[in-house]
Amino acid sequence: MDRIRIVGGNRLNGTIPISGAKNAALPLMIASLLTRDTLTLDNVPRLADVAMLKRILGNHGVDCMVLGKRTGQNGMQGESIELRASDIVDTTAPYDLVSRMRASFWVIGPLLARMGEARVSLPGGCAIGTRPVDFFIDALKTLGADIEIEAGYVIAKAKNGLRGARIEFPKVTVGATHVAMMAASLAKGETVIENAAREPEIVDLAACLTRMGARIAGAGTSTIHIDGVATLSAARHPVMPDRIEAGTYAMAVAATGGDVFLEGATTDTMETAIEVLTQVGAEITATNHGLRVRRNGHGLAPVDVTTAPFPGFATDLQAQLMALVSRAGGTSHIRETIFENRFMHVQELARLGADIHLDGQVATIHGVGKLTGAQVMATDLRASVSLVIAGLAAEGETVVNRVYHLDRGFERIEEKLGACGAAIERLSG
Ligand code: EPZ
Repeated sequence: MDRIRIVGGNRLNGTIPISGAKNAALPLMIASLLTRDTLTLDNVPRLADVAMLKRILGNHGVDCMVLGKRTGQNGMQGESIELRASDIVDTTAPYDLVSRMRASFWVIGPLLARMGEARVSLPGGCAIGTRPVDFFIDALKTLGADIEIEAGYVIAKAKNGLRGARIEFPKVTVGATHVAMMAASLAKGETVIENAAREPEIVDLAACLTRMGARIAGAGTSTIHIDGVATLSAARHPVMPDRIEAGTYAMAVAATGGDVFLEGATTDTMETAIEVLTQVGAEITATNHGLRVRRNGHGLAPVDVTTAPFPGFATDLQAQLMALVSRAGGTSHIRETIFENRFMHVQELARLGADIHLDGQVATIHGVGKLTGAQVMATDLRASVSLVIAGLAAEGETVVNRVYHLDRGFERIEEKLGACGAAIERLSG
């Protein structure tokens, strides 16, 4: 198993190219199931989760072709891939594939809408919480599906197709909003989704579906209207920049000090993160091409932050913020409201000397003068990268074990940070 070795203490200076967003790329790839024609996606990040989804889609009959490099492209730019689901040969998504990546459960929406049936394994629990699928099931039932759960599989049927309806989510849910939007695009009549997730990745999926011929209004607000159409067709769409990757590197720069340009990062998807980073003491300047993040000399200020659905502070940046403020001059409070068990980084950060007290969903972080390198264990994607940030800011050597978590969502992290002066390397095996 690969490990990452970091010798902390270097400031970060230079440019980091921001990749396409994992959490946009996954639903966009799944949308290819909705049409017989080719969906071409540009700026697809090279990530383990993307590779896994290619396998899962391949199992349903989707041909996936990575286009060759073009003039002027370098390895830091995303891939262009063509996905073609001419014939869906299998409407079952088996346990051994779905259990490896929760988002693969989302194939249930397009399969049901296009084929009138889907048999998808329950994803099960995962490291950050129980993460049930009741909102998906209720939404698809509202659209007219018959659903049964049998031997760990959700079996959904709609022999005469789905019918537009009013769906109201009891709680904001990104995944079920994606699925409802995809399914309703091919349903008969109008669907209204109330209390829809407003995340930028929802807007990106709606833009792609619209290019494919779907009729969607209101994505990015709490109410989405969809007029179902009979078929969707070929389209080409670029995956939006990864706001979580950009926020993560911004926190790394705030933690180590330095001056880094995050090329391709977008301000409008990162306003709350930028506000919090500014409170902590980073200087952030937006340009048309990205964000410049600086911190020179002065110490870090503590913050009180609560995670919330977009436009609130993203749960996917919570661990990274905790690593950052572990060295602040004072006490910070971070409340996690999205997932019930997303604090596994706390005990690993403590190994580096962080002083964090957990009480239910609230972490109280007493800033310490310095962190000291140690061996740590990555437990999930965002927890892992918080350990990288802490390692960059710590004195001495940190080794992050179980790096495969990082590879699920961060493209070439050691190359990107290394190019800015970090002493970071991957140790294979
Ligand atoms: C998406 O997960 C992201 N994943 C997560 O990214 C992200 O943390 C999360 O949204 C919140 O922003 C992808 O986009 C691939 P939810 P999702 O449905 O869709 C509960 C990362 O590190 N819920 O918005 O699974 C659920 O348990 C990650 O990249 C139900 O109770 O999240 C949670 O408490 C991991 N029943 C809350 O809703 C359901 O049927 C919000 O979850 C569905 C969800």
